[in-house]
Amino acid sequence: MIVSLGKAIELLQKNEVVAMPTETVYGLAARIDSDIAIKKIFSTKERPFFDPLIVHVSSIDEAKSLTSEWNKAVEGLVNHFWPGPLTIVISKSNRVSDVITSGLTRVGIRMPKHPMALALIKGVGVPLAAPSANKFGKTSPTKAIHVEREFQKENIAVIDGGDSEVGIESTVLLVKTSGENLELSILRHGAITKTQIEMFLTAKNISFKFVQEVSKMESPGHMKHHYMPEVPLVMIDEKFFTDKATLISLIGKNLNNLPDIVEDVKIVKPKGEIKNLQELELGDDPSLAARFLYAKLRELSENKSADLIYFVKKPQHTSEEWLGIMDRLTKASSLIFEEDI
Ligand code: TXA
Ligand code: MG
Repeated sequence: MIVSLGKAIELLQKNEVVAMPTETVYGLAARIDSDIAIKKIFSTKERPFFDPLIVHVSSIDEAKSLTSEWNKAVEGLVNHFWPGPLTIVISKSNRVSDVITSGLTRVGIRMPKHPMALALIKGVGVPLAAPSANKFGKTSPTKAIHVEREFQKENIAVIDGGDSEVGIESTVLLVKTSGENLELSILRHGAITKTQIEMFLTAKNISFKFVQEVSKMESPGHMKHHYMPEVPLVMIDEKFFTDKATLISLIGKNLNNLPDIVEDVKIVKPKGEIKNLQELELGDDPSLAARFLYAKLRELSENKSADLIYFVKKPQHTSEEWLGIMDRLTKASSLIFEEDI
């Protein structure tokens, strides 16, 4: 159900959930000061409680009020990248409930760029927690119609803000402060790359260090599979791809080894004999590839005669700009044919 901004504000104030457009993907929002409202996000999405939510703010001051750790370096970082597709994970204040952070001491915060999302947060007057507006483990929505179709039964209220410009979820950055210094780790790749962050901090003379190793505790919600389309996706390295017929026989040989469920996410399998393969083509520009990725996966899945979608991984896909996209494709794939086949 498409609703106006005014109606959405009213619903959120009454502890309901509303889907809002953001520049990354559509989010399923609820006010953060009501555990009842927050729990509705988890039940609507059928999302496990161990997977924490990102809190969306409309100002840096609001972000500060949600944290118990802040310095000039953090301020400089968010001032530069916000509003935009960067989420910082930082020590929380007691304004943020444990339901939002899955019991963790840190909270993920971001200021979205979409004017309707900002107007919504300001209108409600309270930050909004919002995961992507899709059922758990499924493809994220980049159009209002995606949300309406996904939650047809629930008849979720959606604000139509057009197509999401970025197309994949925000970069998630773990931030630890020590004096005026920063210790950083990328927990999820997105449109903002590590190089962009490094270049900015270096130019500003902010001292920082990137750390690779992050414990499972610090980075929950990273399932092996996610974003799965309705029709199974198979990724194959260019080196092993010759033609569709050979791919079909390769898939046939490997189907029996496919598990049914991995970490609570159901693995999508072909329904019967595989006859019709559809290629997912993303072109050469990573920004455009990200923008259209989820819409293309949905379109290909909606084609009634499609038994399977395949993506041919090429050498250019290993560059930093493609990391976010390749992460999504890897998790969305039921089968991957890489080096070790
Ligand atoms: O672009 C986006 O980030 C979108 C839009 C709607 O803003 N939101 C989104 O939310 O992608 P979601 O729930 O699909 O992804 C949230 C992920 C979690 O699975 C987890 O990996 C990480 O962000 N995260 C959130 N809070 C965290 C925390 N306190 N500690 C560690 N990781 C956290
Ligand atoms: Mg999601």
